[in-house]
Amino acid sequence: MHYYHCISVLSVLATGLLGGLAKPLSPPWDDMHVKHSWNTVPRNWESLGHPPSGTLIDLYIALKPQREKAVVDALYKVSEPGHPRYRAYLTKEQVAELVAPRPETLELVHSWLEHHGISSSSISMTHGGNTLMLKGVSVTQANTLLGASYQLYRHVERGETIVRTVGYSLPRALHWHVLTVAPTTTFVFPRTQWQTPRNLSDRVVKSTSGEHATMLSSRAKVDSVTPSFLRWLYDTETYTPSTRGENVLGIVGFLGDYPSQADLTAFMQKYRSEADDATFTVVEVNGGRYDPTHPNEEANMDIQYAEAMAYPTPHIFYSTGKGPSGTDNYFVSWLEFILDQENIPQTISISYNNEERSISREYAIYVCELFAELGVRGVSVLVSSGNDGIGKGTCLRDDGTVRFIPRFPGTCPYVTVVGGTTDYKPEVAADFSGGGFSDYFKRPSYQEEAVSTFLRDLGNQYQGLYNASGRGIPDIAAQAVGLPIFFNGNEQKETGTSIAAPVVAGIISLLNDWLILTGREPLGFLNPWLYGRNFGGLVDITEGSNPGCNMDGFSAIPGWDPVTGLGTPDFHNML
Ligand SMILES: *[C@@H]1O[C@H](CO)[C@@H](O)[C@H](O)[C@H]1NC(C)=O
Ligand SMILES: *[C@@H]1O[C@H](CO)[C@@H](O)[C@H](O)[C@H]1NC(C)=O
Repeated sequence: MHYYHCISVLSVLATGLLGGLAKPLSPPWDDMHVKHSWNTVPRNWESLGHPPSGTLIDLYIALKPQREKAVVDALYKVSEPGHPRYRAYLTKEQVAELVAPRPETLELVHSWLEHHGISSSSISMTHGGNTLMLKGVSVTQANTLLGASYQLYRHVERGETIVRTVGYSLPRALHWHVLTVAPTTTFVFPRTQWQTPRNLSDRVVKSTSGEHATMLSSRAKVDSVTPSFLRWLYDTETYTPSTRGENVLGIVGFLGDYPSQADLTAFMQKYRSEADDATFTVVEVNGGRYDPTHPNEEANMDIQYAEAMAYPTPHIFYSTGKGPSGTDNYFVSWLEFILDQENIPQTISISYNNEERSISREYAIYVCELFAELGVRGVSVLVSSGNDGIGKGTCLRDDGTVRFIPRFPGTCPYVTVVGGTTDYKPEVAADFSGGGFSDYFKRPSYQEEAVSTFLRDLGNQYQGLYNASGRGIPDIAAQAVGLPIFFNGNEQKETGTSIAAPVVAGIISLLNDWLILTGREPLGFLNPWLYGRNFGGLVDITEGSNPGCNMDGFSAIPGWDPVTGLGTPDFHNML
């Protein structure tokens, strides 16, 4: 504080002395104001004090684009069936134009960095042109730049360490121009969405009526949700992809996770023997690695179920490392990499997410707009909704009030969120299926009718515990209970929306195969199409609920619901 005060006096003096000169004065860089700050160290993290001296981080400075709504406007044009520009996707260069900052924004930020002795040679432009990246900034310098106090924090359960600050500031003159800076206040540990063995005994699942209970008892159960069962249930059995090479399915792993080829081969030999030559390419991002002898379970289940549905479509697995500041800068490093590619897989599956409330609104908005850029490029992004129903534990906030806990990036309106189901005839909601409403993103127009119909039906139940004007999740659902996988040569069963996402991604990839084969553009951002009037491609799920927060949760009902979304895929009807 004292330091800034002194500078402030100096700059006032300088203004007086130099006031008559023609060269425009730079703004008072010492006029620092808080950009984002938490009241306390976020839950589950503890400070280990200052990071070792000489610790370097890569600092991303996200700039406001010249045309603020341009990317989202373009996204809806290319993804709204019937729009003259439907599926007229943009190139990397065209997107760069849409997200370009104002020249004065660039000038101002550069002069601020220059003031702090950061040479322009260490600054590069990323994320299609709206983010400045400062490579290898010392923590000491970052503290000065951002009026921050970077420390080493450890996740109390996972032991993972990250370099973050509880708050940061920017000169007042930059607030309008800078969306967010990362890494700063994002304390997250990207969570995978599966569990084994599953423990049902700590959940209280109440059926709403006697009639409901009778209906549940008549449904059919399967011992094992195998690939052949999924291909029968979602009606993809008779479709064989044939575009060889052009259509690609991407699976994103974080935390340095990657799958095993040997386990994939063992899985396919047992469950799709005609497809036992299934393989994948690993692309290493941000220090991600690939050591086939040390696979990860999440990565294994993702690749095994994507291949189970989409073989022989080529698969790319992105092994995203944690980067110098830990835990991937939460999607930013992978998004930076993928948006820089000329060609991106038409379909992408992500099974990692976090509580929306664990990241700042401005950071969530920034990452969400990067997902919108993928949609503008013609990419369908499927993400898992989470495994905690309406929220894990008591759902108490720091202020002592209860609030349901939706998960990000699912709450971003520009991705397609996959919830979980179980059984068949009829298929019902899995009781852990993540669902609810965003506190950061308002309800997009494509789901206005579907979601407001649900809310009318819900009435005032749970009023004040969720945001009734927020984006509703999930959008779609698929089987998520008791699916066999191979891991380190052994077979085991897994449960979670982590598996539902690659299953749906595999089905979407088959649709893209057919579109490309017949000379058309791929599906791109799916939601305006899925929510379209009279869309008949999904099977509505109308039973089950998603308890959490010590409450019964929402119920799956006819039409959209925050448990299973619009329902589960029917491939031939979608086709
Ligand atoms: C499952 O939950 C019950 C009750 O909370 C507990 O006693 C049991 O140890 C749990 N089992 C596992 C495998 O976690
Ligand atoms: C509810 O959502 C709207 C739209 O995203 C937002 O402006 C508002 O702040 C949210 N309210 C709460 C209490 O989070």
